[in-house]
Amino acid sequence: MTHYTFTLTEQHLPKLAHLLAKNLDKGNIIALWGDLGTGKTTFARTLIQALTNENVDVPSPTFTLVQIYDSTKGEIWHCDLYRLKAAEEFIEIGLEEAFHSSICLIEWPERLGDFLPHHRIDMVFKIINETTREITVTLVGPHDTQRAALQTTLL
Ligand SMILES: Nc1ncnc2c1ncn2[C@@H]1O[C@H](COP(=O)(O)OP(=O)(O)OP(=O)(O)O)[C@@H](O)[C@H]1O
Ligand SMILES: [Mg+2]
Repeated sequence: MTHYTFTLTEQHLPKLAHLLAKNLDKGNIIALWGDLGTGKTTFARTLIQALTNENVDVPSPTFTLVQIYDSTKGEIWHCDLYRLKAAEEFIEIGLEEAFHSSICLIEWPERLGDFLPHHRIDMVFKIINETTREITVTLVGPHDTQRAALQTTLL
């Protein structure tokens, strides 16, 4: 499996977000892994702004579990599953359907257990220091044409 590792400050996030945004489409699931405060929401915000416009307000969906945005590529679902009580609860919020029909950005994907789709893009966030994060991107599952394009862009 190919991993792409970036060491970035917040200022450099838009560049990575725009690279990813170019190749994302409905049905893409981005699992954002990492401890509290590692930068998952900050990156999701940058990516949503890259897919919509840079002025859009992107609050953390900590309490709502999900926030939905309209983009030229259809709906974007931004989820924070930290407070998900049971993995099955994700069906109630309609996430299973959104996996196919939307672009899904998922914080705390481990909460989904076996329901986490295999075909996804993993991004693992680690704190390097106060202003710098290490982000590792991995394509998990078969690489179709569109994902192969993403791979080429990240190289
Ligand atoms: N390079 C960076 N990338 C992202 N965030 C950074 C970076 N440098 C500093 N930060 C700061 O780190 C904090 C990250 O908080 P954020 O809410 O994005 O984390 P999170 O991983 O979503 O946490 P939680 O698990 O609580 O949802 C923010 O205050 C942000 O300004
Ligand atoms: Mg968060």
